Amino acid sequence: MARDGFTTSFGVIAATLGSAVGLGNIWKFPYLTGANGGAGFLLVYVLATLAVGLPVMISEIAIGRAARADAVSAFARLAPPRQPWWLIGAMGVVAAVLIMAFYSAVAGWVFAYVLKSLAGGALSTDPKVTSAAFGALVADPLQALAWQWLVLAFVGTIILMGVAKGIEAVTKRLMPVLFLLLVLLGVRSLTLPGAGEGLAFLFRPEFSRITPGVVLVAVGLAFFKLSIGMGTMVTYGSYFRADQNIPATAARVMLADLAVSMLAGIAIFPAVFAFGFKPEAGPSLVFITVPAVFASMPAGALFMTAFFVLTAVAATGAMLSIVEVPVAVLSERMGFTRRAATVITLVVIALLGVLPALSQGVAARWKLGGMNAFDLCDSLSSNVLLPIGGILVCVFTGWIWGRDRVAAELSNRGALASGGVVRALRFLVRWVSPVLIVAVMLRGFGIA
Ligand code: TRP
Repeated sequence: MARDGFTTSFGVIAATLGSAVGLGNIWKFPYLTGANGGAGFLLVYVLATLAVGLPVMISEIAIGRAARADAVSAFARLAPPRQPWWLIGAMGVVAAVLIMAFYSAVAGWVFAYVLKSLAGGALSTDPKVTSAAFGALVADPLQALAWQWLVLAFVGTIILMGVAKGIEAVTKRLMPVLFLLLVLLGVRSLTLPGAGEGLAFLFRPEFSRITPGVVLVAVGLAFFKLSIGMGTMVTYGSYFRADQNIPATAARVMLADLAVSMLAGIAIFPAVFAFGFKPEAGPSLVFITVPAVFASMPAGALFMTAFFVLTAVAATGAMLSIVEVPVAVLSERMGFTRRAATVITLVVIALLGVLPALSQGVAARWKLGGMNAFDLCDSLSSNVLLPIGGILVCVFTGWIWGRDRVAAELSNRGALASGGVVRALRFLVRWVSPVLIVAVMLRGFGIA
């Protein structure tokens, strides 16, 4: 049987974008920007995306397509004999489970909000009302778990439909609608009285707030956003068409992804200030602010339902790409059927995911090093595992894989004139990106 893969060039972009765009844009980007001081954080995040994110993304896709294999086998196949570069893929499997453990919990809240908005609930311009509605959901262990498991069952069903038919079909249709809805939300937010303060928060940097810890979180977000550092782009790269222009595709996805985050920021921060929410509210920020914006427009309940449906779709596209990493390793490398691989992966995630799901309520007080299970899964993956994966991908591409083989893959075996791109990428992944990531991690953790 031919290896499953993406069938059209548009399908490739849509699925890659489907992986990148998700809760990272709509939920994580706003809450981290709010908690870390606004514009300064945004600035560092954009710089990290360009200097580190894009080079790593291009490298990962090229590695995947050159090897045409799952994340563990891809490194094993391209590395010199007896060098354990496949460990990058193995680390990716661990990171995938950790990320899914909290991501599926947040996706569960989004699914729950679809139902809430249908019923006209949580729709109020009063911060107290919207906060109470969110609090009631996450503090109820039964609801939090049930929604998370529903999400996991949903993801499993789509995975079992196969790569091309499942992932492509679901993601390519609905992304443009989400984009339009965010524009609409942004326009309403910008026309609220007092919106200017939110814009200033988002775009006028206070450089004193950019501490080493803030920089580390911004770099972690850049990895999380582009789905890099754990083998997702290696795995998706392995499904890329042979004639796809990898650097151009990656650059487009990166820009579109940034655009979605900016729109989310513009939709949220003016409203935060206009209604008197706190920008540093944390993971609840989107869930308590967005209903207030919708409450101040005509047909708000309808638009809010559409918003959470589309956010659920975006989250699903992202989760498919996370789960695809272990599923591909288990099925291609370890000989499990795709069905068994999917079930094993999702059961492990469901078991580990109990803790983050409950950590906003009954398990909020169980802490390790000052962090609850949710924060622990989140920061261990984004601030430790993904950056380390990124460093290793850079070192592998720049120093191990071989200049000619990298050039051949990026130019589609000479079909594209990409000499400049190859030279720039090589310089970045050899010297710039890995050094930056190491420096940011050492400073961020207060080691140096
Ligand atoms: N990028 C997605 C988002 O922002 C999340 C995601 C998908 C991801 N695949 C990943 C994060 C791989 C890290 C690694 O929602």
